[in-house]
Amino acid sequence: MIAQANRQELLLARRMSRLGTETAFEVLSKARALEAKGRSIIHLEIGEPDFSTPENVVEAGVDALRKGWTHYGPSAGLPELRKTIAEYVSRTRGVEVKPEEVVVVPGGKPIMFFAMLALIDDGDEVIYPNPGFPIYESMINYAGGKAVPIQLREERDFAMDVDEMASLISHSTKLIILNSPQNPTGGVLPRADVEKVAEIIGDRNILVLSDEIYNRLQFAGEPFSIMSVPGMQDRTILLDGFSKTYAMTGWRIGYGVMRDDLAAQITRLMTNSNSCTASFTQMAGIEALRGDQSPVERMRAEFERRSAMFAAGLNKIKGFSCRMPKGAFYGFPNITATGWRSKPLADALLEDAGVAALSGTSFGAFGEGYLRFSVANSMENLEKALERIDGWVRQNL
Ligand SMILES: Cc1ncc(COP(=O)(O)O)c(C=O)c1O
Repeated sequence: MIAQANRQELLLARRMSRLGTETAFEVLSKARALEAKGRSIIHLEIGEPDFSTPENVVEAGVDALRKGWTHYGPSAGLPELRKTIAEYVSRTRGVEVKPEEVVVVPGGKPIMFFAMLALIDDGDEVIYPNPGFPIYESMINYAGGKAVPIQLREERDFAMDVDEMASLISHSTKLIILNSPQNPTGGVLPRADVEKVAEIIGDRNILVLSDEIYNRLQFAGEPFSIMSVPGMQDRTILLDGFSKTYAMTGWRIGYGVMRDDLAAQITRLMTNSNSCTASFTQMAGIEALRGDQSPVERMRAEFERRSAMFAAGLNKIKGFSCRMPKGAFYGFPNITATGWRSKPLADALLEDAGVAALSGTSFGAFGEGYLRFSVANSMENLEKALERIDGWVRQNL
């Protein structure tokens, strides 16, 4: 027996040094700590709808709990939900999806994680949007791949330059990540560009991870999936889910649609990690897809209204200029004319003005010069935030 156990050095696996993070959660806890000291903070840092999950979906979840949907289910998802998703994706993307091509997972994020683990070997290259959702870069690196950023530029309204993307393709490229509407910029990839990406890939053995989690929150025009391009269904891993569309972030449910042999491998990763997605959550997911869709349209219209108001408000503030986002629920203003760098400015706005936003660099190196504000907050709070930012700018610039 050891008389006194000393705490030994923690010997982490090397791969842990390659894992990134999502700063939104760190800023949230910093903001909460300031609130605990009595400060008033307006939360514009977290990317989740401020609406409640639609009542019919809540009822379906509660009903499922009462009826005993509280046990393990199949790793790939309940057959009824896989069938419902297959029908939904077939209808919305104009393709024919079979239930065997659907894997239900706890949120959209696990599809990124599992796709990378299943496909990326040491040195394989993955092209991903930057600024972009930080988990892409984190997971590429964690899996041992080489993260190849494609810069999204403000002058193109943050739509990727497809010719530039083509120039980044090499013999080692295994995967290209698309995200439209995009987090954090609110950019949308137009149909012609999506078709051009497919054309560029041509016969090469490259897969596309198409993150379409915001596709029901596009402000103008119809979203267009690369899965809809003839010949691309087999090469696309479509990531979608319920978090943003139905305000279900805390239920943890999302899905991937992909060729059936890859779906079987992602299912093995589910068996090894989560066993399955919570059964009652999946029952609520069936209701979300089959039930009344009017709450989705109401949320979309409200995000559009707030985004327009917030972008216009930012444009009146010295040093800020903001394009009108084309989808999702973020404002991504250029702040270079303030003379400040992104991270110190985000810190100062939180600490001095009580407005929690994220530095553009939380979304990759090409996010320098920008801040991200989530408009998933009331009009009243958004207006108050604009006043506070303006007040801070008047005092400090
Ligand atoms: C672009 C993008 N993809 C995926 C996700 C993950 O969503 P989920 O909460 O369903 O895992 C998010 C969440 O912020 C996102 O912004």
